[in-house]
Amino acid sequence: PLVTSKEMFKKAYEGKYAIGAFNVNNMEIIQGIVDAAKEEQAPLILQVSAGARKYAKHIYLMKLVEAAVEDSGLPICLHLDHGEDFEICKACIDGGFTSVMIDGSKLPFEENIALTKKVVDYAHERGVTVEGELGRLAGVEDAVKVSEREATYTDPDQAVEFVERTGVDSLAIAIGTSHGAYKFKGEPTLDFARLEKISKMLPGFPLVLHGASTVLPEFVAKCNQYGGNIEGAQGVPEEMLLKAGQMGVCKINIDTDLRLAMTASIREHLALHPGDFDPRQYLKPAREAIKNMVKHKIRNVLNCSGR
Ligand code: G3H
Ligand code: 13P
Ligand code: ZN
Repeated sequence: PLVTSKEMFKKAYEGKYAIGAFNVNNMEIIQGIVDAAKEEQAPLILQVSAGARKYAKHIYLMKLVEAAVEDSGLPICLHLDHGEDFEICKACIDGGFTSVMIDGSKLPFEENIALTKKVVDYAHERGVTVEGELGRLAGVEDAVKVSEREATYTDPDQAVEFVERTGVDSLAIAIGTSHGAYKFKGEPTLDFARLEKISKMLPGFPLVLHGASTVLPEFVAKCNQYGGNIEGAQGVPEEMLLKAGQMGVCKINIDTDLRLAMTASIREHLALHPGDFDPRQYLKPAREAIKNMVKHKIRNVLNCSGR
C-alpha cells in the first residue's frame, strides 16, 4: 500500500539507519528505484517536486506509483518535495499523496511557522505526514564565513521551537549540504556538531537531509567521457551520509545521483551504438543503471536493506 512516513521513520530512528527519498519524474526512474527496493526489501520514499508534477502531470505520477505499489507489493510513501505554498500541499494531499513537504525555509521564522502549521493542520486531519524545513541550503559552501553560516544553518533552539509550535512529523535541516552536482568547492565538510546538538535537543524526532547526493565519480567520468561537460562536480561523501543516518537523520534525499546515473548510461549507449534510435534501446540500460545505483545506496549508504 501507499503509506505515510510515520512508521518508517520510527523504525529508522530506532535502528539508526536512513530511508532513501528518491525524486521521480517518469516510468523508467520509478521502475529502476522500485526494482532495487524490492530486491533489497527496503523501505522506500518516492518524492515528486513541483517541477516533476508540471513535467509529468500529477495523475501520471500518481498512477505510476500506484502501479509500482501493486507490482512490487512494497509499502511506499509518496511525498511532495519542496512544496512552496499551502495550495500545492493541499492539491497533493487531496490527490492521494501520503506525505508532503512545506518548504517555508525562505520565509522569516514566524511566517514559516504559520505556513507550516496551516499545512500540518490540513494534512493531519487527513492522515498525511508533513516535513518542514528550517535553515537554508542554497549557496552554502565550505568557504562561508562563520557569521554567514550562523545565518543560514539551522539554529538548534529555533528547531525545537519550530517542531513544538508546528507539530511537523519531520524536519529538514541545513548543515552544509546543497542541491545539485556542485556542492563543495574544496574539501567536503558538514557541520556534524550542529547535527548532534539538534538531534540531542529533539530526541526521537526524525531529521531530513536534503542535497544528499554523493555525485558518484564513475557517473561524472562517464558523462564527460561520452561528450558531456560536468567539470568540478562534487557531492557528499558516503561515510558522512552513513554517519548522519546514525545521528537522527531518517530521510536522505537523492535526485542528482539518479540524474547522473541515467544520463551517463544514455550517453554511453548512444556513443557506442550510433545507429540506435529506439528509445527502449537506451532507456533499458538507463533503468538498469538507476537500479544498481539505488541498490548500492540502500545497502552501503542508507543501511536500510531488509528493514
Ligand atoms: O530539490 C530539488 C530536487 O532535486 C528536484 O529538482 O525541482 O528540478 O525537479 P526539480
Ligand atoms: P541532490 O541534488 O543532492 O540529489 O538533493 C536532492 C534533494 O534534496 C531533493 O529535495
Ligand atoms: Zn531538497
